[in-house]
Amino acid sequence: MKLLRIDASAKKQSVSRKLTARFAETWKRQNPAGTVIERDLTTTAIPALTDEWVQAVYTDPTKLTEEQRKILSVSDELIAELKDADIIVIGAPMYNFGIPATLKSWIDQVVRNGVTWLYTPNGPKGLLEGKKVFVLTSRGGAYQPGTPTEKFDFQAPYLKHIFGFIGITDVTFIHAENQSKETASAAFAHATQQIQQVAVAAH
Ligand SMILES: Cc1cc2nc3c(=O)[nH]c(=O)nc-3n(C[C@H](O)[C@H](O)[C@H](O)COP(=O)(O)O)c2cc1C
Repeated sequence: MKLLRIDASAKKQSVSRKLTARFAETWKRQNPAGTVIERDLTTTAIPALTDEWVQAVYTDPTKLTEEQRKILSVSDELIAELKDADIIVIGAPMYNFGIPATLKSWIDQVVRNGVTWLYTPNGPKGLLEGKKVFVLTSRGGAYQPGTPTEKFDFQAPYLKHIFGFIGITDVTFIHAENQSKETASAAFAHATQQIQQVAVAAH
């Protein structure tokens, strides 16, 4: 069993990093034979998509040049890591009502036509099945369903959709909200409690 832990916060002392750490520690205690792979997106050099990258993705894999293979190598590595994992836990701070650019760059590399999804006569089909994703968000404000600010949450709906697009439909969100407010530590404790429960049960 493999757990892939992905962190994206620009901050070293960060709320979402504490949440993913708690998840990984709890999961490892429950699964001593399991492996935890850590992927810190702030220390991973992920190139922006280029014309050459897109051309390489749409080239017959058996006809790729050496240069094109090199261009796809980061994507290959990140996809291999993702495919290899049974459970993926993502620390997602809310930045500007969405996800950090580092996490978007990772998504751009792993959502790849012909590798993680395919066009079919019935529409697009995700190729990564049987995986579980846990998204642990940290947010300065609150965006709960049914509240006036729900519509400003461009983080959770996007992540749910993009993982579904590549075949991962089992996505659980735990939010540490109000991290810029006085109630921050109570909200953090509540999120931690939920994380503890899902990490023990995750397999
Ligand atoms: C660049 C930046 C943008 C932010 N944008 C938002 C935002 O749009 N909405 C919000 O509720 N909080 C926002 N925040 C607050 C963070 O979501 C909050 O501090 C969260 O705990 C950050 O997670 P981290 O500690 O893991 O980095 C922002 C913080 C930063 C640094």
